[in-house]
Amino acid sequence: MDFSLSEEHLMIRQAAREFAQNELKPGVIERDSDMSYPTDGVEKMGELGFLGMMVDPKYGGSGLDTLSYVLAIEEISKIDNSCSVIMSVNNSLVCAGIEKFGTEETKEKYLPILTAGEMLGAFCLSEPEAGSDATSQRTTAIDMGDYYMLNGTKNWITNGKKASYHVVIAQTDAEKGHKGINALVVEADWEGVSTGIKEDKLGIRSSDTSSVMFSDVKVPKENRLGPDGFGFKYAMWTLDGGRIGIAAQALGIAGGAYELALAHSHERKAFGKEINRHQAVAFKLADMATDIEAAKMMVYRSAWLKDAGKPYTQAAAMAKVYASEVAMKHTVEAVQVHGGYGFVKEYHVERLMRDAKITQIYEGTSEIQRMVISRGVIKGDLYLPVH
Ligand code: CAA
Repeated sequence: MDFSLSEEHLMIRQAAREFAQNELKPGVIERDSDMSYPTDGVEKMGELGFLGMMVDPKYGGSGLDTLSYVLAIEEISKIDNSCSVIMSVNNSLVCAGIEKFGTEETKEKYLPILTAGEMLGAFCLSEPEAGSDATSQRTTAIDMGDYYMLNGTKNWITNGKKASYHVVIAQTDAEKGHKGINALVVEADWEGVSTGIKEDKLGIRSSDTSSVMFSDVKVPKENRLGPDGFGFKYAMWTLDGGRIGIAAQALGIAGGAYELALAHSHERKAFGKEINRHQAVAFKLADMATDIEAAKMMVYRSAWLKDAGKPYTQAAAMAKVYASEVAMKHTVEAVQVHGGYGFVKEYHVERLMRDAKITQIYEGTSEIQRMVISRGVIKGDLYLPVH
């Protein structure tokens, strides 16, 4: 088994690292404080090809594999998780689904704009009363012959106000349960589409999260993704890939906090020596390094399974639940290593601790990931997952 990264992977990781350090780090504290949107960062991510990394170049994408995407998200997440969630949603939940299930016309119409970052996409699944229980959609897309009439409200939508295109999951035929749900591409400037206020959040504060409302919006039939009634499976398929992206985000958060804690432990002296010479700190660093290494294996492996065309639903859920728990645990420890410095914004580590929490919530809470994993376990698909 060869764990080394290819030259191309190393170059992508380096490019993402330099971009994050040189272009995202300046101003990240201020953007977090005043919730200002990372306009320049998003524009640059489009130029660098980070917004459509896995899309075929014939639709404007970078044509790279999932591991490349993971490496880029990981590096960006060490610095700016508002940018990395924007990137993750646009890549995994919007572009990937349109490319896989859209008609040729839909792909040609939307993908080049989305991959270039000229316009962004949003994924509208969660509702005030249907977040985890994704089959209980209240938003309706009633079949009117050659169009769907869309009505409802979506909550907690990343890119909610900034997106030009929304992929909306809605119920067409409630009697059919999950088989009566459709996924539709809806343009934000169509009559009847509106958005709520930008949410004031604990973390990822400069990203744009809002409600999106649909009132008698006419959606042409050709904007449906996949066959009639495929919307729930569309959501599950895109979320499987999305969970790899969020697992990579969590890995980056943990890695960023670890790098800060390690550097600080060399600079700060107490009782006559660097604090990492005290076992209390040295063991914290050892635990961080060990857990991050384990999370990395799981995240990279889930990307590898996806690229190899093997089943990856459970592997992605495992990677997400584990990496997000590592991120939460070790950002708290990294603040502790910093002592009082860790509690002030200037040192960046408290921001990573706040950002870590959302990785245990969005694209399926840790409880949902355990549901997905346990179903595989009970069916006997796992353990050990030798695919
Ligand atoms: N891929 C493809 N198909 C899948 C699938 C997958 N991963 N998982 C399930 N399916 C299929 C099943 O095979 C089944 O099909 P059949 O009836 O034809 O056999 C169908 O979907 C229904 O499956 P289940 O009975 O397993 O569905 P369920 O209602 O029990 O729910 C769940 C499963 C895993 C809990 C799901 O509802 C889920 O993942 N919920 C969480 C949703 C979520 O992640 N929400 C977060 C919002 S998105 C977000 O956060 C974006 C953002 O802005 C950052």
